[in-house]
Amino acid sequence: MSNASKLAGKVALVTGGTTGIGLASAQDFAAQGAVVYITGRRQAELETAVAKLREGGATAYGIRGDVAKLDDLDRIFNEIEQRSGHLDVLFANAGGGDMMALQDVTEAHFDGIFDSNVKGTLFTVQKALRLLKDGSSVILTASTTSVQGTENFSVYSASKAAVRNFARNWLLDLKPRNIRVNAISPGPVHTPGLAGLVPQEQQSGLLNHLASLVPIGRLGQPSEVAKAVTFLASDDSSFINGIELFVDGGIAQI
Ligand SMILES: NC(=O)c1ccc[n+]([C@@H]2O[C@H](COP(=O)([O-])OP(=O)(O)OC[C@H]3O[C@@H](n4cnc5c(N)ncnc54)[C@H](OP(=O)(O)O)[C@@H]3O)[C@@H](O)[C@H]2O)c1
Repeated sequence: MSNASKLAGKVALVTGGTTGIGLASAQDFAAQGAVVYITGRRQAELETAVAKLREGGATAYGIRGDVAKLDDLDRIFNEIEQRSGHLDVLFANAGGGDMMALQDVTEAHFDGIFDSNVKGTLFTVQKALRLLKDGSSVILTASTTSVQGTENFSVYSASKAAVRNFARNWLLDLKPRNIRVNAISPGPVHTPGLAGLVPQEQQSGLLNHLASLVPIGRLGQPSEVAKAVTFLASDDSSFINGIELFVDGGIAQI
C-alpha cells in the first residue's frame, strides 16, 4: 500500500468537520483515500467546507446536524446508511466551550458544554454502532484540559475528562466487535474555536499567552492534529486501544 492510501476504500465520518481540527482531519482522511462525511450546525460553513474538500479531490458529503440532538444524529446516520451502507472510521470531534469562573457558572453554560461535548459524543458513538463495521476505529476529541487545570475553564475541562474516560470504557463494551476507541488530546491549536473562547478584543492576547506556555513555543496547527487522528484511524495503530494521544507541543507533559 502506498503512503497516500492509509484509508483507501474506507468510509469516515467527522462530526464538527466544518472548521478547525475536524476539517483538517477530513482533508487528511480524504488525502489518504477515504470517502468523508462531515457535520456541523451551520449550513454556510458546512457548504464551504464540503466545497473545499471536493476542490482537493475528495469524495465528500456534508450533513447538517447538532450532535446534542438525537433526532439530528438519527438523520445523519440514516443518510450515511443510504449512501454508503456502513462506516469504518468515526471521528467524534464536534464540541467546544467557553470560559467562565466557578462563581459565574450558569445552568446554561453547563448544559451547553455538556450537551455538545459529553451527551453529543456519547450518542454519536452509540448511534453509529449499527453502521460501524467490526474492526472499525473510533476517535474521540478530548483535550489537554482532561488532565490539567485552567482558570475559568472547569466545566469544559470536566467535559473533556469525561470524553477521555469514555474511551477507556467503550473499548471494553466494543471488545466483541474488535472496535478500537482512542482519545486525541490537542493542546492549544489555532482554530476558530480556540480564538472564540474569549471576546474578539481579547483574542490576540489569549493566543499569544497560550503560545508562550507551549514548550515548542507556538500554537499547534489543525493539520498537525489531523496527522495524529489519521494514525489512530488507520491500521498503523492496529494495537493501540484506549489511549489518550496528546498532540500538545508538550504543554501537558511538563
Ligand atoms: N483548538 C484547540 O486548541 C483545542 C484543544 C483541545 C481540544 N479541542 C477540541 O477540538 C474539537 C474541535 O475544535 P476546534 O478547535 O477545531 O474548533 P472549531 O473550529 O470551532 O470546530 C468545532 C466544530 O464543531 C462543530 N460543532 C460544535 N458544536 C457542535 C454541535 N453541538 N453539533 C455539531 N457540530 C458542532 C462546529 O460547527 P458548528 O458550530 O457549525 O456546529 C465546528 O465544525 C472540539 O471538541 C474542541 O473542544 C480544541
